[in-house]
Amino acid sequence: MSPITTTRHGDVLIITSNNPPVNALGHAVREGIVKGIEEADRDDAVKAVVIIAEGQTFFAGADISEFGTPKSFEYPALPQVVDIIENCTKPVVAAIHGTAFGGGLEVALASHYRVAVPSAKLGVPEVKLGLLPGAGGTQRLPRVAGVKKALEMAATGNPIGAKEAYECGLLDKLIEGDLLQHAVAFAEDVKDARPLPRSSERDEKLAEARDNPALFDEFRAANARKFRGFDAPEYNIRAIQTAAEKPYAEGVLEERKLFLELMSGTQARAQQYFFFAERKASKIDGVPEGTRPRDIRKVGVIGAGTMGGGISMNFLSAGIPVTIVEMQQEALDRGTGVMLKNYQATASKGKMTAEQVGQAMGLLTPTLKLEDLADCDLIIEAVFENMEVKKDIFGKLDKIAKPGAILASNTSYLNIDEIAAATSRPQDVVGLHFFSPANVMKLLEVVRGAKTAPDVLVTAMQLAKKIRKVAVVAGVCYGFIGNRMLIPRQVEATKLLLEGATPAQIDKVHVDFGMPMGPFQMADLAGVDIGWHRDPSRIENIRDALCAVDRWGQKKGAGFYDYDEKRRPSPSPKVQEIIEDFRAKAGVQPREISDQEIIERTLYTMVNEGALILEGGFAQRASDIDVVWVYGYGWPVYRGGPMFWADTEGLPRIVEGLKRQQGRLGPDFKLSKLLADKAEAGEKISKA
Ligand code: 3HC
Repeated sequence: MSPITTTRHGDVLIITSNNPPVNALGHAVREGIVKGIEEADRDDAVKAVVIIAEGQTFFAGADISEFGTPKSFEYPALPQVVDIIENCTKPVVAAIHGTAFGGGLEVALASHYRVAVPSAKLGVPEVKLGLLPGAGGTQRLPRVAGVKKALEMAATGNPIGAKEAYECGLLDKLIEGDLLQHAVAFAEDVKDARPLPRSSERDEKLAEARDNPALFDEFRAANARKFRGFDAPEYNIRAIQTAAEKPYAEGVLEERKLFLELMSGTQARAQQYFFFAERKASKIDGVPEGTRPRDIRKVGVIGAGTMGGGISMNFLSAGIPVTIVEMQQEALDRGTGVMLKNYQATASKGKMTAEQVGQAMGLLTPTLKLEDLADCDLIIEAVFENMEVKKDIFGKLDKIAKPGAILASNTSYLNIDEIAAATSRPQDVVGLHFFSPANVMKLLEVVRGAKTAPDVLVTAMQLAKKIRKVAVVAGVCYGFIGNRMLIPRQVEATKLLLEGATPAQIDKVHVDFGMPMGPFQMADLAGVDIGWHRDPSRIENIRDALCAVDRWGQKKGAGFYDYDEKRRPSPSPKVQEIIEDFRAKAGVQPREISDQEIIERTLYTMVNEGALILEGGFAQRASDIDVVWVYGYGWPVYRGGPMFWADTEGLPRIVEGLKRQQGRLGPDFKLSKLLADKAEAGEKISKA
């Protein structure tokens, strides 16, 4: 049965799409729309057309799962569909609710009129898939909404709300009340309007760019940092620039050419892979179908430090009350003060109102008594990394928490099963590993203990969505997924210093690769002293030597780099001296280190660790590892994540590189059998 039906309401033909979940514009939908338009053209009794969708949303875009298959090109392809809509001889009204995204917005732009409910969102997120709106979107959007607005929307991919869309001319009317009824009434009003307003024929809004062609370069310069490394933003800009410079017919040809170039590139493949990876991550293996989540109405957080405060803010912002516990009044006051300051900073940027800040903080109950957590449905421990301390807390919680409460630890490395064993209810214990700053970073590792109950996992995944995190399930191993993979990178980076590289050289390789910062910049930001034994006389490695002379990172104005008062780094002669001192003591003769060696020893080893994690069953699937690295550590999404990137490098090349470095990697290095087998078989690891 076709997902598209047509019905009549007087002389208005209503084309309705019903293609759950998001009315993606797959082949059957496109075919149905074209048939509907043909019906309207054919039938003299039809005076106007309304295109509308059932379910949660208007068309959310082309069907991404069709990309790369013949279906996406099969007649009618999306560029043909939009032209057929625009060329309809009767006025076409797009009636929008939910999200008119990508191809969905292009269908709306090709319609002669657009109306929407106030909650609707309109956008062209193709850039996030490494693409551009390739069905006339780059040519029609600037003509309808203006060049600046089109640039902003297309190059960032961020949607705008209906009100803003109305103000910039993208919508003709905001509909309060029943969308279909009002859209039909609107169609009745415009049924005799001629000539039909065709977006492709308009050019009054292109004047702003024709009068000021410099605006494109200004836009590029203003967003250079944001777009660094990505291909698609520049392609979007170029296509929109063409709209301003060339007639429509030439513009769409250029758009097509640019679209196909992007589509055949690795970045688009990586970003589309990642779109599905992110959605797959929430699916948990081995959980019986229909497992119901537990009700979480109140959360307890133990520890009001940086992590505890950040974790609490997630729940407060989502309207969930939090009781936060500290041992000393002073620490409690400091912690809640920092939370308030963070909220106020958000408000000062206009991202929250003062009232919302008040509401969020009003949901917070600070206390010094662990017993006050008795009525919480979820309790998250966020104290420092010490197994004995954590066991002690969980033992106490076991006596305090109500039956069925979920007991979670925010540990980044420690064994959840051992922590769970300190309670009489290990089935209620789970790891919830937030990433710092916890109120900002999107990743949440949900650590599944041997005895964690399925409904606890389901609750954690659902709750993550509620607080706008992307959750990934990890098994119990040292460092779970993300931090475990960080270990070989850090170990090799430090060894490379001794062998002849500088922190700046190693960091540059990582930044050029697309990471937000390199290993030593990250150490300086996080604190070189994290995990340090605190004995300045005990100097066993470079890090001990730095800590002993107070070089703890950015917070002290010195770490692997020197920092000026604006926290700008510069290479440090003192650090060089320390490195050389260690070299001399170890009798190491420095040598020239190539960038390729840095990649092999710090990135290939991460891939290998990821493969070992998969082999050990500590990640459910390779794409989960990629989600962890993109959202937890800023791995460039245009490289898909470490496992996807490994496939683009070629697994035989990775294995070869690792074998070449084996001597330097030392006796503890273990080549993953899974990685070697996949390389041998010519298979992809990102599909594992
Ligand atoms: N194609 C195929 N499947 C899609 C899809 C699309 N465009 N958009 C969403 N889906 C699928 C998801 O994979 C998911 O499937 P699952 O249930 O099997 O995991 C399901 O629909 C629901 O999606 P979400 O979990 O994301 O649901 P939400 O309610 O959280 O979000 C949404 C809905 C805002 C529409 C979000 O899905 C979204 O942003 N989708 C992508 C929109 C997009 O990128 N459109 C542009 C496509 S490219 C294009 O149009 C090219 C053209 O210019 C030529």
